[in-house]
Amino acid sequence: MHAPRPLEVDPAFRDDVVAGLAAPIKAIPARWFYDRRGSELFEEITRLPEYYPTRTEMALLGRHAPEVGAMVGAGRAVVEFGSGSSAKTPLLLRRVAPSAYVPIDISGDFLRDAARELGAEFPGLPVLPVEADFTRPIRLPGAVAQAPKLGFFPGSTIGNLVPRTAVDLLRAMKDTLGEGSFLLIGMDRIKDVGVLLRAYDDAAGVTAEFNLNLLHRINRELDGDIPVDAFRHRAIWNDDKARIEMHLEATRDLRFGVDGRAFTMRRRETIHTENSHKYGDRDSRLLLRAAGWGVVKQWTDAGDQFAIVLAEAEAPRFAP
Ligand code: AVI
Repeated sequence: MHAPRPLEVDPAFRDDVVAGLAAPIKAIPARWFYDRRGSELFEEITRLPEYYPTRTEMALLGRHAPEVGAMVGAGRAVVEFGSGSSAKTPLLLRRVAPSAYVPIDISGDFLRDAARELGAEFPGLPVLPVEADFTRPIRLPGAVAQAPKLGFFPGSTIGNLVPRTAVDLLRAMKDTLGEGSFLLIGMDRIKDVGVLLRAYDDAAGVTAEFNLNLLHRINRELDGDIPVDAFRHRAIWNDDKARIEMHLEATRDLRFGVDGRAFTMRRRETIHTENSHKYGDRDSRLLLRAAGWGVVKQWTDAGDQFAIVLAEAEAPRFAP
């Protein structure tokens, strides 16, 4: 028996799932991982011994935020894209003497809780939350219109976008932040393939559960009857594209329904559910430059596992 269907299903979720399952190479955008259970599982992933990005980035922010503060100067409005629980934000806010903090997130609940907590931790700092999808153009609150800005995009979320979309997003951020702005962004590095594969296929099976949860969500919200136990989690390193790919692989020939439509899969066929691109030093510079950002400095850990990158909006200039 299915769990009761929620009253409101995001029509974009339905469209993406139906189109993605009907495509010759099946794929569903990674943003649909994050229902309530998916968000909980992601939080668990960030604490796994194999998943190095979160703790490495936190350590880098703790160590280098004072230098970031010295480079960008006091009085900037810090604008965080996809702020979520804002867990890394205090590390930055403590060191950059901001004039305001503008967290942007699509989830209003998360945003309000995080804004309240930060307001308590930084009394006197104006916290101006914006509930919006940061992949679209955003109008910032009037109170920060004239302030110089520091964009903050931690977590290596940029890696979940293919380079073309990543450049579009970085360019949109530049438009939102305006002339003279800086951007501090977390980017995961290319590294030993064994380390990468273990980070995306951990021994406790949390990442597998995170991936498979997407099928449970489809069954629940889109009236599906996908046999979840006939799928297994796969993490693959695509060297050509310098990315970890996550897939859900059918372990036998399958037939199932979603939203009143019938789908079939052959044994070993996969649904591609996520890309996580990794960037070397020059790759990050090129990606940012393609969107009009000049890299000022990159900081990495001793093992060169992860980088936080400070970039400055480049003024448009006539180039040969
Ligand atoms: C959110 N994002 C940066 C994570 C990543 O590492 O690409 C999502 C994730 N997928 C599996 N584990 C973590």
